[in-house]
Amino acid sequence: MVPSGAGRVAGVIGWPVGHSRSPRLHGYWLNQYSIDGAYVPLPVAPETAELAFQALPALGFVGANVTVPHKETAFRACATVSERARRIGAVNTLIVRDGALHGDNTDGFGFLENIYQKVPTWSPTDGPAVVLGAGGAARAVCAALLDAGAPVVHLLNRTVERAEAIAADLGGPIQCGSMDTTEAVLGEAGLLVNTTSLGMEGQPPLSVDLTPLASGALVTDLVYAPLETALLAEARARGNPVVDGLGMLLHQGRPGFEAWFGMMPEVTDALRRFVLDGS
Ligand code: ATR
Repeated sequence: MVPSGAGRVAGVIGWPVGHSRSPRLHGYWLNQYSIDGAYVPLPVAPETAELAFQALPALGFVGANVTVPHKETAFRACATVSERARRIGAVNTLIVRDGALHGDNTDGFGFLENIYQKVPTWSPTDGPAVVLGAGGAARAVCAALLDAGAPVVHLLNRTVERAEAIAADLGGPIQCGSMDTTEAVLGEAGLLVNTTSLGMEGQPPLSVDLTPLASGALVTDLVYAPLETALLAEARARGNPVVDGLGMLLHQGRPGFEAWFGMMPEVTDALRRFVLDGS
């Protein structure tokens, strides 16, 4: 539906923000549920980020998503934050409450919900998880897995110190190592996740020998361009259940949409197609 101008307004703050799929995602839901509101891209340079966050309530926004490179600045700008945002130290969803900013981090929620929707039989408690990469996405994924009862998370990264920093911040059963040790810990894994940028269009491929992996172990990649990474293709070919990364992006948007516009939206195949290519 075309916004009347009297509806609620939210947006996404990033730099750059032109590549963000969030306007398409939330625009689809607003239309789908006939909600009179708007969701706009907000390109905000790092030097004006704090000002922009404080301006959201003043401009009458109901909230915003926050993307690279502002997630930590957004965390600091909030009057209150959710427990999961506090654990991660970063905010991807801002909600204006009584004129003040409340921050949430829905990346871990999106990660798990995507898997639950695609492979309902899988549980984080099934066995150890192997997480490749130690950036912001890995931090959210580890926190979500531990909170959901994963017995152990093997957190492997090119730069082991970054993995160790996450383990120190989160606490719990995280075992850190180098990505060279992936094959050694794969044998007992119930889940393998790639959170590195390897395999993304324009980046080198991720090379992991999946031979030790049990056939029932789930393999998922946070990369969604391309949708079918070499990792997922190899896992699929050997019969493992696989989940691509697009769904995490879609599911992470749901709690924000609910807080701003009053209903929890659904992730459907039609939405996936629309966000991917506008059809
Ligand atoms: P995000 O916040 O999106 O998770 P990030 O902080 O840029 O992204 O992290 C990118 C991840 O990809 C890191 O784990 C990075 O490894 P380092 O911490 O060692 O930099 C990983 N990565 C990127 N390029 C890589 C490469 N060529 N080989 C191995 N790992 C790579």
